[in-house]
Amino acid sequence: MKIKNILPLSTILLSLATASVSANPPLAYEGRALYVSYCQLCHGVKGKGDGSLAKAMHIQPADLTTTVRSRSDTILKKIITGEGKQTITGRDRHNILSDAMPEWNDIFNAEQVDALISFLRFLSRSKHQLMGDPEVGQQIYYKYCKVCHGEDGDGDGIMTKLIGIVPTDHTNPNETSIYNNQQLAESILDGKGRFMPAWRGIIKQSDVEGLVSYIRLLSN
Ligand code: HEC
Ligand code: HEC
Repeated sequence: MKIKNILPLSTILLSLATASVSANPPLAYEGRALYVSYCQLCHGVKGKGDGSLAKAMHIQPADLTTTVRSRSDTILKKIITGEGKQTITGRDRHNILSDAMPEWNDIFNAEQVDALISFLRFLSRSKHQLMGDPEVGQQIYYKYCKVCHGEDGDGDGIMTKLIGIVPTDHTNPNETSIYNNQQLAESILDGKGRFMPAWRGIIKQSDVEGLVSYIRLLSN
């Protein structure tokens, strides 16, 4: 039997797709989910210290996009858990934290604190905003993209060996931060080179924005 119509690659891949979700999501991704639930109310969506509870606080929540840059991971750990308040207080004027910042010691385990720190680093150093919902992005990524870009996004999906291609490594900031959000979205919608398929008509605009946001967190 002869196959007359060659299906577009992206259509073939739909049938290979699975929707399973990683047991090891990227740290900044996991940190963002915690941030949204526990920190955003005070520190705001972008970390600027302008969350909806900020007005009610007698001390303004810190603008994390400027303060976090000069903090080491060790200090951030202490600030978040509240464990090191004694040590921190008095070392320099920046290190005096009031009780207005809650202590999270009993709430997060060490891995979750690391994840939060990873996301705070993203907030303070990424020149690109998260334009869509990365949680939606992750689901779509697992469904359509991991066959080539790999489970962890580093470009070693099963298809790479089968058809001998080298997809972009989304965990490498040098490969993604050179593009703005609009450019990444266009690559996804229109495809790139011979083997990066076009997804226009398959993935809707808001989901493409979620994918771009997920890729940003992968490379942090
Ligand atoms: C109830 C409001 C509130 C919530 C919720 C909150 N914070 Fe804060 N946070 C503050 C306030 C207020 C300050 C500033 C304290 C001061 O200057 O004395 C602060 C300061 C900080 C600082 C210190 C910034 C610096 O380097 O000087 C960090 C880091 C921080 N918060 C992280 C977090 C994280 C992570 C979460 C979520 C797990 C969180 N905060 C949740 C109110 C809040
Ligand atoms: C058939 C394999 C394959 C699939 C499936 C695939 N990609 Fe790609 N992708 C590639 C290859 C190969 C490249 C490198 C293209 C080039 O630069 O020649 C690439 C590059 C990219 C780039 C970088 C484009 C640029 O501007 O440099 C982005 C972003 C991207 N892919 C996102 C995705 C997303 C999101 C999905 C899932 C919706 C996806 N890819 C699915 C193979 C794939």
